[in-house]
Amino acid sequence: MDRIPPTLEWRDGVVRLIDQRRLPAELVFIDAATVEDLCQAISGLAVRGAPALGVAGAMGVALAVSLGQEVLAAGAQIVATRPTAVNLKWGVERALASPDPIAEAQAMVAEDISCNRRLGALGAGLLPEDGRILTHCNAGSLACAGYGTAIGVIRAAHEAGRRPSVWVDETRPVLQGSRLTAWELGRLGIPATVVADSAAGSLMARGEVDAVIVGADHIAANGDVANKVGTYSLAVLCRHHRIPFYVAAPMSTVDLDCPAGSSIPVEQRPADEVSLSGDRRVVPDGIPVSNPAFDVTPARLVSAIITEEGVVRSPYKRALARLAKGRQTSSAPQHG
Ligand code: MRU
Repeated sequence: MDRIPPTLEWRDGVVRLIDQRRLPAELVFIDAATVEDLCQAISGLAVRGAPALGVAGAMGVALAVSLGQEVLAAGAQIVATRPTAVNLKWGVERALASPDPIAEAQAMVAEDISCNRRLGALGAGLLPEDGRILTHCNAGSLACAGYGTAIGVIRAAHEAGRRPSVWVDETRPVLQGSRLTAWELGRLGIPATVVADSAAGSLMARGEVDAVIVGADHIAANGDVANKVGTYSLAVLCRHHRIPFYVAAPMSTVDLDCPAGSSIPVEQRPADEVSLSGDRRVVPDGIPVSNPAFDVTPARLVSAIITEEGVVRSPYKRALARLAKGRQTSSAPQHG
């Protein structure tokens, strides 16, 4: 039995999901019974993380079908909630193309977990024994249907007895690192220490970081990676300090139709996420705030991309296209 409950599941015609806004103080679930409920849960970050959004998107189409709503309009409404996470569009389109969107959404849960276990096992070997690994945002079970991508790799290394420990960036402004990643690692018994995002450079300078591993919201065909804002700064720091910078993501996050990072839309989030700390204003009234939720790390700063189909290194364009082709072949129906 997993120590972390399922992020989201289809239950008797509603989508039951962990309300991630309430963690780590309390573990509570909410039921999205309509497409509108689900869109609000996605925009408000009750459910978040690219692979979890893929499954949520498919479940949203399932809700529309079961409520007799116009599915194409519902799909478009869901996709518009979070523009950077390509999995959301992928999950909606996959459910729309299926004769049975409810069954499709449920199949995607199992598939996501098995992809993450596979990429976790492939990536674990890249981490040194007793490695001190820094991660940003939450790319754990809560960001997926289960197990996690970047945290999946750390988890697989832990399960294999490689004794990783984790520096957890708090991840301003919404604190997915300190609230969610630290909560997951605590439940898994993996040693973790939370640091302010701005501490990463000095930790590296002191030789206290062996590798950085993050997830991704969108990977372009050339290997440029969009992930939580602050990821790019970490990649630059890694290059300066000669530390490997790994990205772990399922192939559903790789978008071969997107040529380069400059074509990835970057979501702007509400200013209040930055200007309020709880109920307290931390920015003077009248001062403008910019809140881009993601940034783009150029492929040249990425040491390797870890997927369920294999680990690839630069040049990414050829390598990612090859993995995507292999995936199509291996998922084609078997005859005879
Ligand atoms: O705004 P969020 O919390 O949805 O951002 C999530 C991230 O940036 C994750 O790193 C990414 O989605 C990968 S999750 C496996």
